[in-house]
Amino acid sequence: MTRLLDSRLPIVAAPMAGGPSTVALARAVASAGGFPFLAGGYKPREALEKEIAAVRAADIAFGVNLFVPSGESVDEAAFAAYAEELRAEADAYGLELDPSPVQDDDGWGEKLALLTEDPVPVVSLTFGLPDRADIAALRRAGTRVIATVTSPGEARLAREAGVDGLVVQGSQAGGHSAVFDGTRDPESITTAALVRRVLQAVDLPLIAAGGVDGPGAVRELLEAGAQAVAVGTLLLRTDEAGTSPAHRAALGSPSFTQTVLTRVFTGRPARALRNGFIDRHQAASIDGYPAVHHLTRSLRAAAGRAGDADRLHLWAGAGWRSAPTGSAADAVEWLTSELD
Ligand SMILES: Cc1cc2nc3c(=O)[nH]c(=O)nc-3n(C[C@H](O)[C@H](O)[C@H](O)COP(=O)(O)O)c2cc1C
Repeated sequence: MTRLLDSRLPIVAAPMAGGPSTVALARAVASAGGFPFLAGGYKPREALEKEIAAVRAADIAFGVNLFVPSGESVDEAAFAAYAEELRAEADAYGLELDPSPVQDDDGWGEKLALLTEDPVPVVSLTFGLPDRADIAALRRAGTRVIATVTSPGEARLAREAGVDGLVVQGSQAGGHSAVFDGTRDPESITTAALVRRVLQAVDLPLIAAGGVDGPGAVRELLEAGAQAVAVGTLLLRTDEAGTSPAHRAALGSPSFTQTVLTRVFTGRPARALRNGFIDRHQAASIDGYPAVHHLTRSLRAAAGRAGDADRLHLWAGAGWRSAPTGSAADAVEWLTSELD
């Protein structure tokens, strides 16, 4: 089967938009033998272009991740009611939330144009599949295209759309679930079991992601048939990650005891450390990514500045308790310590 990634070790630094994925992290992971992804999500084309140039200067193989726009609409009345639900949270920071939904496509067309005009080795996609023509354009430019999937059914659709390989993401993963239909939760099944099921459904090379808590999990996922294992949460506390101070502190704090899947922050299922904001709004949360993401953005930014972990989206996978501090290179070495 095709080898998806050119790296010495079967460890992937998963893309983490919103700050954690940095050029420094990509360089550190690559120098340790792993394969890094840059996070293209939430960034304008120009910012992504700069990151690509900086990583290229280090002469390493890398991938770029993009969010696929869903085109789903949001129920305006439900959205307005949710904005009202969050009013007291916003009042705490003297903010006013805009009750009219903002929908955007995260600059898909501009970023696709960048990546087809000036191709990178690998592009991974999350939140569904784009037009077949977009996948074909990236592949024609010489890029390997990888779709993130959460079920055998999504894997079949990705194969039909013409991708080169998959990231198979289990529901224990930190951050947003890649589930194609954001109004559904990903099935609760271990990543290793999901990898086996996907391999029965499609004959594509795959990278496993979700819930990795150390070298034993890496070995297990490779034994299940993955070509490589992607880690996100286990890199969040490393020196080179751009994780915010409040997020770092929460990941190391004994006051957090659980991760949960929630839509409260962005309107799409995501796994986070359970905090007060989730407890207060889980019952009222609505579907509607990216409108809910835009609704809560100023609130989360204010919470981040104030170091208020009770109102922050503390993305974390189920393996968060094992997230090491120190260098990312040491983390990569540790993760491969049980491989022959
Ligand atoms: C803070 C954070 C941000 C993330 N952002 C992205 C992203 O931009 N694109 C993406 O495909 N996945 C994103 N993910 C999911 C990861 O790529 C990966 O699937 C996940 O971290 C694997 O599970 P783990 O966190 O348990 O290792 C993010 C995860 C975290 C924790």
